[in-house]
Amino acid sequence: MSEGVNQADRPLVRDAAEGGAPRDLFSKFDEVINTRETLLASGVEDPFGLVMERVLSPTRAVCNGRDTILLGTYNYMGMTFDPDVIEAGKAALDNYGSGTTGSRVLNGTYQGHKEVEAALREFYAMDHAMVFSTGYQANLGIISTIAGKGDYIVLDIDSHASIWDGCALGNAEVVPFKHNDIVAMDKRLGRIPEGAGKLVVLEGVYSMLGDIAPLKEMVAVAKKHGAMVLVDEAHSMGFIGEHGRGVAEAQGVIDDVDFIIGTFSKSVGTVGGFCVSNHPKFEIMRLVCRPYVFTASLPPSVVATACTSIRKLMHGSNKRAHLWENSKRLHQGLRELGFTLGTDEPQSAIVAVIMPDLEHGAAMWEALLKEGLYVNLARPPATPAGMTLLRCSLCAEHSAEEVETILGMFERAGKAVGII
Ligand SMILES: Cc1ncc(COP(=O)(O)O)c(C=O)c1O
Repeated sequence: MSEGVNQADRPLVRDAAEGGAPRDLFSKFDEVINTRETLLASGVEDPFGLVMERVLSPTRAVCNGRDTILLGTYNYMGMTFDPDVIEAGKAALDNYGSGTTGSRVLNGTYQGHKEVEAALREFYAMDHAMVFSTGYQANLGIISTIAGKGDYIVLDIDSHASIWDGCALGNAEVVPFKHNDIVAMDKRLGRIPEGAGKLVVLEGVYSMLGDIAPLKEMVAVAKKHGAMVLVDEAHSMGFIGEHGRGVAEAQGVIDDVDFIIGTFSKSVGTVGGFCVSNHPKFEIMRLVCRPYVFTASLPPSVVATACTSIRKLMHGSNKRAHLWENSKRLHQGLRELGFTLGTDEPQSAIVAVIMPDLEHGAAMWEALLKEGLYVNLARPPATPAGMTLLRCSLCAEHSAEEVETILGMFERAGKAVGII
């Protein structure tokens, strides 16, 4: 504060000409407001305002009074209704209450937080595990804390918003490269000044198109340049890799990855985020990582459900195999129906159907909902290259018959809307 000046008495510096009306802070949202109003004026149901009135199972819910098959929940392993998971949550509510009301570094570390971190260490066979209140905060916290002023973050341009926000929160130089382009990544790393700290940030599965990263090659390139590697395995944990550790495990490079970020909000079936690592100094993060320190810890019932779920996922190979079958069948069936898909082959439990534009996408989304099928409608800026997508995420609890039913729904809706 400058000496002798009472901040409250200082004149406001106006952006607009002196004396003019201050700009409405909401004017920057006008384009989004107009797009939304135009869409709703066409009479379609609001694709971003759906209410699950009752949830019957990991794959079924009542939406707008209709019995609906869920194909857009990222509940890959169907753990949300697992009886052991639910029982663990109820017992924790009874024994520890509804919330911790505190930060992990004050009164917010209960026995359950230690247990879920132990389960994560075992799941990944790694030395350290740190649980955050969401996966978003895990990326925000780890990325902004480990890459500071003078350091460089080299990341895929299609990275999740939480990765970009982690970069924005920190003070490192941020260098994006073209999606999954190994040569471009190599070039960017080669231009970083000698002696600077380098962090490469990648995802196992990119959630918009459901494609995977060539981690084997990318991790090798990162190591050649002496960079640390962080991989966000949000959409692969529990499903991809022999033990469900993700794409880094499936491609045999997990030991060369310095930090794995994950979430409890997908295969684990609850909410929360984490980072696992073998870095010998990793535990200091608990004192220096602001999105870990300055927020309340997860409720005891949540960490108890997560812990039980993670331990069950260690033995989930049959479910993993069935989920692959579902993914392959849906991908093949949609392609045979004539839809344009995000990947040539199924690479994950996400199958993205590319729509010609937002209007057709919203119409198709609504037609599917009326058929009794829920998928995610995704549009820019979340999607790459301005695409409108119908994102389907399969669950290990979808039966083979359900997948056939889903294909029938896509066929009828696609013909009605004129997409196939
Ligand atoms: C790649 C990726 N990372 C992180 C997150 C954030 O996870 P959470 O829902 O736990 O905040 C998501 C969620 O959509 C994601 O897709």
